[in-house]
Amino acid sequence: MKISQILNKAVLQLKECNKPSPRLDAEVILANLLEVERLYFILHKDQDIQEDLVEEYKQLIGRRCKGEPVAYIVGHQEFMGLDFIVNKKVLIPRPDTEILVEYVVEYIKQREEDVNILDIGCGSGAIGLSIASQFPKSQVTLVDISPEALELAKENARKLNIKNGQFVLSDCFESISDKYHIIVSNPPYIPAKDIEDLQIEVSTYEPRGALDGGIDGLDFYRRIATEAKEYLLKGSLLAFEIGYNQGNAVIEILKENDYKHVKKLKDLGGNDRIVVGELKTGSKK
Ligand SMILES: C[S@@+](CC[C@H](N)C(=O)[O-])C[C@H]1O[C@@H](n2cnc3c(N)ncnc32)[C@H](O)[C@@H]1O
Repeated sequence: MKISQILNKAVLQLKECNKPSPRLDAEVILANLLEVERLYFILHKDQDIQEDLVEEYKQLIGRRCKGEPVAYIVGHQEFMGLDFIVNKKVLIPRPDTEILVEYVVEYIKQREEDVNILDIGCGSGAIGLSIASQFPKSQVTLVDISPEALELAKENARKLNIKNGQFVLSDCFESISDKYHIIVSNPPYIPAKDIEDLQIEVSTYEPRGALDGGIDGLDFYRRIATEAKEYLLKGSLLAFEIGYNQGNAVIEILKENDYKHVKKLKDLGGNDRIVVGELKTGSKK
């Protein structure tokens, strides 16, 4: 079967099961299977594909049709220009989270010293490792409660050749004893009752432990903002990703907990996406 025929068939199938970007999905999955770039298809549309690969491709398109995200099917996702391995034990890194990383990167550039950074709920390592890769003299500690997530974050560090990351299996701060200039987190923040209403890609395939933020979605913001005070150096930064409608509530939580210069910033879609603040008090260096 020729590449163009295989792709057209897959696009049709994905349209029939209402996937929003059928051509892109079909091409990305085939490119990954054939280990080529998508551009390859323009020049090689008449190339014949071996029958066993065609069969394998059909299975993969079937998985996509049932709702499995493309990133889990191909096993990796680009984030901050780095290629992260992903699997069903971790949240797929989102483009919106790059806003949080970019804010932290700019904040570090303003400081002249090397910094100690803590990433709580690291998942694949997207946030912590992206920061670590840009500041090789900084020390980044990546924490997750999920052993599988932590293993994957370590694997990503090895693959990306990032040497300044440390990995700690911990329920938030429970196994942490150092002090940090920056604590960053994209915690679970979906209100528990809303999870089932999310698109199937998220509700069925992404790990519940990466989504569930308690009754109102704010459990982790309350816990981290309170407990972080013991682990942040004076004047240091707490930076959160938030849900689009949680900006004011998270600002209040930070203000109640003695953070100053508290503000929210928007993502490229115009939604509130991050809240940051600096600790008024806290440990001196
Ligand atoms: C929304 S995901 C974020 C993953 C990654 N940082 C990203 O932005 O792509 C939240 C992560 O927090 C972890 N997590 C949930 N509860 C935790 C806890 N009590 N302590 C530490 N990590 C936790 C989950 O396992 C998950 O990996």
